[in-house]
Order: sequence, then C-alpha cells, then structure tokens
Amino acid sequence: MESSAVARTRALAAPGAYRRMSSALASDRRKAARGAVVVPRAAAPSEAARKKIAVVTGGAKGIGAACCRLLARDGWAVAVNHRIGSKDAADGVVASIVDAGGVAAAFPADVSREEDVVAMFAAIDDWALAVDGVVAGLVNNAGVLTGPNGCKSVQHASLEDLNAIFAVNVAGPMLCTREALHRMSTKITAGAGGGAVVNVSSGSAVIGRPLLYAMSKGALNSFQAGAVDELASHGVRVNAVSPGMTDTSLIDDIRDSFDLAKIPLGRFGTPEETAECVCFLLGDAASYVTGANVRVGGGRPPGTFLG
Ligand SMILES: NC(=O)c1ccc[n+]([C@@H]2O[C@H](COP(=O)([O-])OP(=O)(O)OC[C@H]3O[C@@H](n4cnc5c(N)ncnc54)[C@H](OP(=O)(O)O)[C@@H]3O)[C@@H](O)[C@H]2O)c1
Repeated sequence: MESSAVARTRALAAPGAYRRMSSALASDRRKAARGAVVVPRAAAPSEAARKKIAVVTGGAKGIGAACCRLLARDGWAVAVNHRIGSKDAADGVVASIVDAGGVAAAFPADVSREEDVVAMFAAIDDWALAVDGVVAGLVNNAGVLTGPNGCKSVQHASLEDLNAIFAVNVAGPMLCTREALHRMSTKITAGAGGGAVVNVSSGSAVIGRPLLYAMSKGALNSFQAGAVDELASHGVRVNAVSPGMTDTSLIDDIRDSFDLAKIPLGRFGTPEETAECVCFLLGDAASYVTGANVRVGGGRPPGTFLG
C-alpha cells in the first residue's frame, strides 16, 4: 500500500491538479519574455525558508535518477522529468525519495519539444506553490546517443539523425535553461534568489566519437561557454560534468566488448559517482564555481572517450 506522502505527491503531480500560479508572477514572466526588465517585488518573509527545487531532465533512470536521489538526500525538492514512456520508472524514483522523507514529483515532457518544456515548467510553477518551493537548480541530463538510423560515419551522415540527436542534447538544454533562468533570475523574477545549472556533457565532445553524439556534446559545451556571463548577471551559475564510461543503459551496446584497461581506475563509473559531482556543482559549496567542466572519467583523458 502506498504511503500518504507518496499519494499526496502523486496527486500534486497529476495533470490538472496544480494550482494556478499567482497572476503577479505570471505577469512578471510575460514581461521578461518580451525582454522587459522587471523590478523585483519585495521578497515574501518566508522566501529564505522556501525549499529549493532542482529540475532534473531524464530523471527516470541512469545518471538522472541518481542525481534525483542524491539531490533529495542533500535537501533539494526534486522535479523528476521523464518521457511519457518512462512514467513508471519516474514514479519509482519519486516514491523512493518520498519514502526516504524527501520531496519530489514527476513531470512528463520531451525536452526536445518546446511546447512540452514550457508546459512542464508551468506545471513545476504550480507544484512549487503547493510545496512552498522555488526553482533554484536545473540538471540538463537527458541525452541520446544515436538517431533513428544509427549513423556513425561521415560517409553515411544522416540529417535525420543529426536533427534527432541535437534536438535532445542541445535544444533541450537550451530550452530548459531559458525556462529555468526566467524562474531563478534575480533580475527577472520577484524574490528569486538565483540558482545553478549543471549540464551533463561528455568527454566525447573532444574526441569526436560517436560522430553526431560528440558533435552535440561539443555544441552543449559551446552553449555553456556562451551562457556563463549572461547567467552570472542573473545570479545563476552554470557548470558541466563530462562523465566517462558510466554503467547505464546508454553503454549497453559496448559494455561487454569494452577494454577496461583503457580506464586507469580499471572499471566503469557508477551513475552515483557522476551524481555526486552534480550535487557539488549545483549546491552552495560551489558558490564560486561557474563555467567549469569537470571530467568524471576514472582517469581517462577526454580524448579517449569511447576510443
Ligand atoms: N553512460 C555514459 O557512459 C555517459 C558518458 C558520458 C555522458 N553521458 C551523458 O549522461 C546523460 C545521462 O545518460 P545515461 O548514461 O544515464 O543514459 P540513460 O540511462 O539512457 O538515460 C538517459 C535519460 O535521458 C532521457 N531522455 C532521452 N531523450 C529524452 C527526451 N527527449 N526528453 C526527456 N528525457 C529524455 C531518457 O528517457 P527514457 O527513460 O524515456 O529513455 C533517460 O531517462 C546523457 O546526457 C549522456 O549523454 C553518459
């Protein structure tokens, strides 16, 4: 039988169950979206006591699920993003957090679809009101390794694959960062206290393999490089982790054939080992860290990722 806390969280996460955002905040965001500078209203007295919400994309499994659990351990309320097909897995992550005394809810959205991302953040706004929380963190974790045709070479380069991979690995983080910024910015949103973004990149950005995936992670790194100054002016830090070979479903095709001797530490990383780094970068302990890209690769230089 599910606990009342799980049932409450499920009820809050159910479509249509969210309370409407306050019209004042909604108005601020509409103005900000038009590029207007919004003069912050006085923060509510309870602002400092509000729960910090971290949004984790692709949080149903792998590195994303580990991030959700460890961020909840560190006191974050966690918005667990998932694709429609991963609802059960996402609910499982939420239940494990709530059962451990944390706060979490699941939010479906395909991060490559702008309308999904906008709707998800609107739903998170309503949840934030319900749990007395404020969005203060974003982990751009969702990612795909291949497109529908599995293109791996220049000779067989496929625009369809390129577009599919870039939509998730590049457009997704850009859209989610935009929406999170509108909520965390000390310049845009009344009472917001800034925040942090962590991009889950990859060492493959440097070696260039697998071809299209590596290109997408290179673009993600470029997005971060271009965003550091602007986000800093809003009180928002942005950093990246670049995992090495990590034992998730992403490496199913090469797990058995991979030569572990290529990794100085002699083994694959665990999702939790990357998630610990994400927790540090997202948290206050990293308050002077922005624009960094931390390799979590067991000693493998970035240039040998998957090589
Ligand atoms: N594992 C490694 O060795 C490794 C190394 C370097 C970097 N990374 C990066 O680490 C991140 C997490 O990967 P992982 O290893 O944990 O792989 P994973 O187990 O396959 O997890 C990827 C997650 O992203 C989600 N996702 C994919 N497309 C999405 C979309 N359009 N909208 C929302 N969510 C979407 C997946 O959802 P579903 O559950 O629906 O599939 C899944 O939950 C990725 O960015 C990956 O590039 C991994």
